[in-house]
Amino acid sequence: MSMPRRAAQAFTAVLLAASTVTALSHTAAAADTLGSAAAGKGRYFGTAVAANHLGESAYAGTLDREFNQVTPENEMKWDATEGSRNTFTFGNADQIVNHAQSLNMKVRGHTLVWHSQLPSWVSGLAATDLRSAMNNHITQVMQHYKGKIYAWDVVNEAYQDGSSGALRSSPFADKLGSGFIEEAFRTARSVDPNAKLCYNDYNTDGVNAKSNAVYAMVKDFKARGVPIDCVGFQSHFNPASPVPSDYQANLQRFADLGVDVQITELDIEGSGSAQATNYSNVVKACLAVTRCTGLTVWGVTDMYSWRSSGTPLLFDSSYAKKPAYDAVLAALGGSGSGGGDGGGGDNGGGNNGGGNATCTVSFAKTSDWNDGYNAEVTVKAGSAPIKGWSVKVTFAPPQTVPSVWNGTASWDSSGTVMTVRDASYNGSLAAGASTSFGFTAMKNGNNATPTVGACTAS
Ligand code: XIL
Repeated sequence: MSMPRRAAQAFTAVLLAASTVTALSHTAAAADTLGSAAAGKGRYFGTAVAANHLGESAYAGTLDREFNQVTPENEMKWDATEGSRNTFTFGNADQIVNHAQSLNMKVRGHTLVWHSQLPSWVSGLAATDLRSAMNNHITQVMQHYKGKIYAWDVVNEAYQDGSSGALRSSPFADKLGSGFIEEAFRTARSVDPNAKLCYNDYNTDGVNAKSNAVYAMVKDFKARGVPIDCVGFQSHFNPASPVPSDYQANLQRFADLGVDVQITELDIEGSGSAQATNYSNVVKACLAVTRCTGLTVWGVTDMYSWRSSGTPLLFDSSYAKKPAYDAVLAALGGSGSGGGDGGGGDNGGGNNGGGNATCTVSFAKTSDWNDGYNAEVTVKAGSAPIKGWSVKVTFAPPQTVPSVWNGTASWDSSGTVMTVRDASYNGSLAAGASTSFGFTAMKNGNNATPTVGACTAS
């Protein structure tokens, strides 16, 4: 009996997918990463991600290992998605969303209506035009990502700092009046009724005039049936703006209004045990509030933080776990990391002396959409330990591969054969152990499955 070529390929992929699951089953053990520990508490643990770093193996490796939610740091903002009127650019944000989807990470959409990173063509519009531009922007961006976003920051930072409790001056507030927030949420609900719709702000982390103003808005929205599902607390902390003592109480009072709350952009400047204690307190506050559904730190590594000099994140510039990492993992009930191991790992040790290093490979498509697909290739060491591996993948033209993770790719001159070797942190495998790398391919009209060649080990 002969099968059509494509069906045969699909059948093979399913078989291989089954063996992949078996091979990786050992990784499902202890909650020894931020994401798995948070999942054990019914929460997610995420990070802001920048598309331009996804190709760096240590960055992608740390992201993929530790986190189960991402927020594009800049790629979904108005200036990135609609730099000129009604011309939409999604390439960089798509890279992040595809990457996240291939690993089953949640994506937070950030952000639709914000006074900052706003192109000057928007600020120049008069009221009627501005209203339609705002609604069009929300509609087009949400349509593009419909079904892929668990929550949207529909409106970001609309309120002033200080004691006034007033809206901040912005093109939206100044020309449309305070009703722009409600209008944005109503438009958003009509576009993607399944996405959670959030209001997000900073300096609202404790009870103060600004958070009181947001609280009053949410209460009013709930009373009048304006669609709102969640409130994000950015939680950018430093010595001048420390974790407030009433942080948990503030989260709880919002939750009591009937919305979910999330910690959306957490970073805490400092170092050592003081920073660790602050992080631990933030995590404990979220865990103590039933409707606090997850936390997101504002970056993977201090090296790329928007406040890099304040070293506010969980991994240092070499991707080593900081005391703050250990404190967060412990607060999440994770199985301790044993004290500050460099997270990136290395290739050292385990040299098997050559000769009998072998590996095998299996391939599975993990998702497939109109114009592209994601795939996972699992590499398994043979009966001896290995210290490196490489696999050739041949694509049917004109397919292209915009993104590869957990491996280092190079291409032949024809542009059809991609050789992927280990990323430094996943080259060493014990006998019989496995790891995997993944990629996103664009079909460009050709739906064929790539051919995965033999595995070469060293
Ligand atoms: C920041 C990014 O991290 C920077 O890369 C960018 O230059 C400016 O914006 N509040 C927000 C985030 O909602 O979008 C901001 O992100 C940080 C403050």
